[in-house]
Amino acid sequence: MIVANWKCNGSKAMINEWTNNFLTNYVEMKKAFIGIAPPSIYIDSILDTKLSKLKEINIGSQDIDISSGARTGAISSEMILDFDCKFSIIGHSERRQFFNEKNDEIKQKILKIANKTLTILCVGETEEENKNDQTKDVLKRQLGVIKDIEFNDSLVVAYEPVWAIGTGTTPTPDKINEIHKFIKDVVQSFSDNSAIPMVLYGGSVNQDNAENFFKEESVDGALIGGASLDGRQFANIINIFNGINLK
Ligand code: 13P
Repeated sequence: MIVANWKCNGSKAMINEWTNNFLTNYVEMKKAFIGIAPPSIYIDSILDTKLSKLKEINIGSQDIDISSGARTGAISSEMILDFDCKFSIIGHSERRQFFNEKNDEIKQKILKIANKTLTILCVGETEEENKNDQTKDVLKRQLGVIKDIEFNDSLVVAYEPVWAIGTGTTPTPDKINEIHKFIKDVVQSFSDNSAIPMVLYGGSVNQDNAENFFKEESVDGALIGGASLDGRQFANIINIFNGINLK
């Protein structure tokens, strides 16, 4: 599973160019789930491109609000479902950092979409927490929001260490693997019935380092920011994930 998070980037012109570049490089493989989360205002523009003809491509949202109604500027869960969004990213560290989102709000958002569309829950420690050896405690706390929620295979966790996002620095592949195993164990410990979730890695993934992460057993894919803004590079990363390295 490979997901593009465009964050607050893009334009109508960019979408056209991106689509052409992506389609030139992408080697069709129906098996992988490819996600694209553009800014919400562009969801319809992407659904209008040739990308929508590829069954493996799924459009999703970068966030949702806790409710509809008198909440100026917000996008509700009903709206993203109305546009047939196949997933929503929830709890991204930029939402936690710049919009002051706390775990209780994140839980409310998840409850809005659980089992209606895929939840991609982002978790990750800051640089300071990493240095202080608090990573596992922080992750356990962040994962606590899904306790008591029954997911029918509709939960994906993205491990995104805050210090690796947009910095060009990443944990080593074996460290990422260890953390992904830990995340799967924690989620399973919440309920005997819960399926082991897919865990994606996010933070400075690009076409040059992706293969090293994908080789690890517990890495089920990637959530990609900067490198996903280039359609050619995003296609290359998917090809690498699918075992084809043409770059
Ligand atoms: P970068 O790939 O730009 O480091 O961003 C990762 C991310 O935040 C994806 O959600």
